[in-house]
Amino acid sequence: MPASISISAPPTWYVKCSGAKASTADSFIPSSLLNSLKTLKFPRFWPWQRVKMGPLTVSPMGFGTWAWGNQLLWGYQESMDSQLQDTFNLALENGINFFDTADSYGTGKLNGQSERLLGKFIREFQGRKAFQDDVVIATKFAAYPWRLTPGQFVNACKSSLHRMQIEQIGIGQLHWSTANYAPLQERALWDGLVAMHEKGLVRAVGVSNYGPKQLLKIHDYLKARGVPLCSAQVQFSLLSMGRDQMEIKKLCDSLGIRLISYSPLGLGMLTGKYSPSNLPQGPRGLLFRQILPGLEPLLSSLKEIAEKRRKTMSQVAINWCICKGTIPIPGVKSVKQAEENLGALGWQLSADELSQLEYGALESPSKMIQNIFQTS
Ligand SMILES: NC(=O)c1ccc[n+]([C@@H]2O[C@H](COP(=O)([O-])OP(=O)(O)OC[C@H]3O[C@@H](n4cnc5c(N)ncnc54)[C@H](OP(=O)(O)O)[C@@H]3O)[C@@H](O)[C@H]2O)c1
Repeated sequence: MPASISISAPPTWYVKCSGAKASTADSFIPSSLLNSLKTLKFPRFWPWQRVKMGPLTVSPMGFGTWAWGNQLLWGYQESMDSQLQDTFNLALENGINFFDTADSYGTGKLNGQSERLLGKFIREFQGRKAFQDDVVIATKFAAYPWRLTPGQFVNACKSSLHRMQIEQIGIGQLHWSTANYAPLQERALWDGLVAMHEKGLVRAVGVSNYGPKQLLKIHDYLKARGVPLCSAQVQFSLLSMGRDQMEIKKLCDSLGIRLISYSPLGLGMLTGKYSPSNLPQGPRGLLFRQILPGLEPLLSSLKEIAEKRRKTMSQVAINWCICKGTIPIPGVKSVKQAEENLGALGWQLSADELSQLEYGALESPSKMIQNIFQTS
């Protein structure tokens, strides 16, 4: 919920200056004004804190929707849809206008479910029309081995538009580069992006899982074709802040590309709710079993700062990504998680706190495994 102030008594300056007899607030303030003051809500962030991303303007944090349709890793059930819709509505009402998805999200017959749900939630949003119109969807197109021509990528883009029932996608992103294993396919991906941009199917284009070398190449290629590259998303968090991430960030800054941090909560490991004796179900449990025991220094720093700041560990972990100049897109599965993650906005960790967290991360023997599709 938005931060609200509650007013129960008149401020002492009012009593002193007015010479009025101290009583309850109601004696001084007309009840209509008092009621409006009681419901006065501060925004999570101010309009000038929104971020320019190519031709788009987005909230300083977006939400990720990988879990929306994924049974295998995230335990999705269709019965969760109304909760997910409430989560989406809460996000919009609190100024979040940026949502990340992909055409490959959704397992088995639920393939494309994340895009379908996002489209449905946008259409059915009952709040202010301005919020609805302001939504920026960033979707990703998978470099499946059968997508070999630019035309096939354009068709993939049309299928995403159809699933979401929208006319234009905010950011069309390449989900991964094929440079490591099918270099010839890579040019089809790039030309596909150019074609969807020229046809007006996407407002802007971006990439995902591109390392610095490959990022520079595609940036230069697109620039020569008159298409600016607006964003690059990589795994970026206190669990994934190695030399590569810092190099990509530096390059993005020099080229005017926004860095989007995916998995900012380390798939949930940085929330503090999991431990070696309390692991999530499924494949995540296997991964966490290996990594969590080696995260003690990082998790204690997160906990210590969270307690001092009266924040949660998730809020601190997400705020770290924002302080590093990136746009985090934490995955959310419930209203409770979205509400908590919204609390990552509107404040900033100090330089000392950032150093303490990074020291904790460096001292931790475990690191996150990197995406197999990440290139150099
Ligand atoms: N480009 C790519 O290749 C790529 C790869 C991965 C992700 N992404 C994008 O990045 C987004 C975020 O990454 P992610 O989903 O992998 O991981 P994440 O954001 O690090 O973790 C998200 C998970 O943590 C748990 N969580 C979130 N907020 C919480 C809170 N406040 N308290 C407790 N638990 C909380 C939820 O799972 P549980 O409740 O089940 O623990 C949630 O699904 C994805 O949704 C996707 O859009 C992109």
